[in-house]
Order: sequence, then structure tokens, then C-alpha cells
Amino acid sequence: MKKIESVVKSGSNRRAFLKKGIVAAGGVTLGARLLTNASPALAEEKSGRLDAGDASILRFLAAAEILETDLWQQYNELAGIQDKEVPGGTGNPAYTEAVKVLDGDMDQYIHDNTEDELTHEQFINAYLASKGADTVNLDHFRVLPSSQATGAQQIGRLTNLMQLSVDTTWYTRYRSRTKNPDFGDNFPQAIPTIATGQHPAIPRFDADTSDPNHLQAIANTAGFHFATIEQGGTSLYASLAQRVTGVEVLRIVLSIGGTEVMHFQTWQDKAGNAPPLTDGDVVFPDLNATPLGGEDFQTNLIMPEPTIFLSKHFPACSIIRPTETRGAAMGALKFLAGSNLFLGQSKAFFAYLTDLAEDADDARRGF
Ligand SMILES: [Fe+2]
Ligand SMILES: [Fe+2]
Repeated sequence: MKKIESVVKSGSNRRAFLKKGIVAAGGVTLGARLLTNASPALAEEKSGRLDAGDASILRFLAAAEILETDLWQQYNELAGIQDKEVPGGTGNPAYTEAVKVLDGDMDQYIHDNTEDELTHEQFINAYLASKGADTVNLDHFRVLPSSQATGAQQIGRLTNLMQLSVDTTWYTRYRSRTKNPDFGDNFPQAIPTIATGQHPAIPRFDADTSDPNHLQAIANTAGFHFATIEQGGTSLYASLAQRVTGVEVLRIVLSIGGTEVMHFQTWQDKAGNAPPLTDGDVVFPDLNATPLGGEDFQTNLIMPEPTIFLSKHFPACSIIRPTETRGAAMGALKFLAGSNLFLGQSKAFFAYLTDLAEDADDARRGF
């Protein structure tokens, strides 16, 4: 969070400077020596035959999908199904079983969510390329370590699942009948103890799998993190769709965004099955028992409760939320950075993603 804000504060000079560097490097290598002799004429990414705003929105979404794929791949290697569709890991039986406590089909769902993200990433980049627009490649930022636990590939990663702060306000936000984040409302955490500090959502090494209670805490953290990620995608697509100009690009954003909604709906159902436990400072309470329970915490209330939308003068409506479009891309980036998902990443990583988010948020609907 601090990092990304300091990059944002450093202003447009740095932004233009970096852009030149990235384009000069052909989107492949971002090195300091390449930043110095870039042509100002190449300062903006190419939009090709796409509306410039649409290209920017798609590029930010491509980056978001690459990041999603990276984190889901890590979950799949350890707790999903390894096959030709989602190759890479060899599975961690103890962690897989702990995750399956939430639902016997978790390995299949993790596999399918991972494959979905991979296809989103590949489709958006292929579409951008087909229109002569610049694509997104984050390969040079794959520098974060893999889990050392049995089952994980030893490759560089974009995201860090081992020191997370997992925001769980989506749980109460989607159960509220009177509040909406687009009206400035705040929501209590379902699991306050994982919302601050640093918590593994995957086993970091095999020792993390030897104590069943500790392993279940890790699996429960993952169970909530799945929904945290996918509710973010749900809101991001709906928010950015409002500033898309081309009908075909709108079709892409609505069609992919709909699958993010389906992911979130699956995961928020499973999160409620996380067994109550205490592991050191981490507490997963019984969400159905006093002092919790009721409308805000009851685990089977997985359909979005109707709430205020657009104006308090309208009747309550069952909707996804938030969907405010202003600043949506930067908001999504700050949300992810604030969760420590990018802990250990370079300044250049934050600068590049900030640049993509700013461009997406500059997009205006044309006619
Ligand atoms: Fe996706
Ligand atoms: Fe997703």
C-alpha cells in the first residue's frame, strides 16, 4: 500500500518516463538502462483500431487476469487437480484434504477457477493484438518465491500468498439490507483476525502441514481469500463496463465479468463452511452462533441481500456492489496491494500497474 502510494505520488514525470521505457523494451524487458534512450513518440501504448479508452480498459483487465492466474495457479498446484488443462504442480495431499473440509469438490473448483483466469488473460491479450493494440506481459516481474511445500513448482511468482491480510468485509457487505459501499458505507469484517497482520493462505513449507489445526487455519484463510479475490473481479468488470465505448468490447467485459460473479458466488458459499477454530492469534468464529449469526453473519445467506442502489429514493434491489466507475481500476489495484498480495514486488512492478490503472481510469465513454 505504502509502495503504491509513493509511486502514485511521484507524479506524471515518472509515469511518462516508465512508459517510454516499457515501450522501448518492446513490453519484454524493463531495465533502467532501457529507460534512458526511449523516444518520446513512443510514450503511449498503441491502441490500434480500438478506441484508446477501450484499449486501456482491456490492458488493465489483462494485467488483472495475469495476476489472478498467477495466484490461482499457486492454489491449484497445492490443492487443485493437476492435468493438461492446468499443468504445473503435483499436489499437496494434506492441504488438499484441509481445503476439502469446506466442500468435497474444492479441488475441482480451484482447478476450474484457475483455468478460467488463464483463458481470460489469453483471450483479452489475443483480442488486443488482433486490433493492433499493445498487449500486457508481466513475465519480467515473476520474481517472488514459490512455496517450499510438497506439490509446488519452484518458479518465480507475481503474487505472494504467504503473508496475506485477507479483507472479509464482502461477507457482511453482501448481507447488508441497508448499506452500499457506493454510498460511503463501511462493513464489519467476518474474520477480523485475518484482516490484519500476515497470514499464509497456502502452506509455506511442509512443516505448515504437520499440525492439523494450523493447516486448517491456512485452508480456512484460503477459503475466504478465494471469495475476496473474486468479489473484486465481480465489481471491477461492472465498474469498468460503464466507461467502455465499443459494443464488442462491452460484450467482452460483460461476458468475462459474469464468470467472475459465478466464481464469487461459489466461493462465498464455501467460505461459510470453514470450521470454527483458533490457531494462535487467528480465530475463525462460529458465524451462526451468538454474538454473531443473524442477517449479517448467517452462513447460508449467500444470495445478495437487496440494498440501496443509485438513490435511497428507489426501492431496495439485489445487486453486486460496489459498481462506482470513477477510479475503479486504481481502487482495485490499491485493494490488492493493501492485502500484501504483491509483498516483495519491485517499484517498477507497482509503477507499471499504476500506469495501466491510471490509463484505464482516464478512459471515457465515447459516442
Ligand atoms: Fe478472470
Ligand atoms: Fe476471477
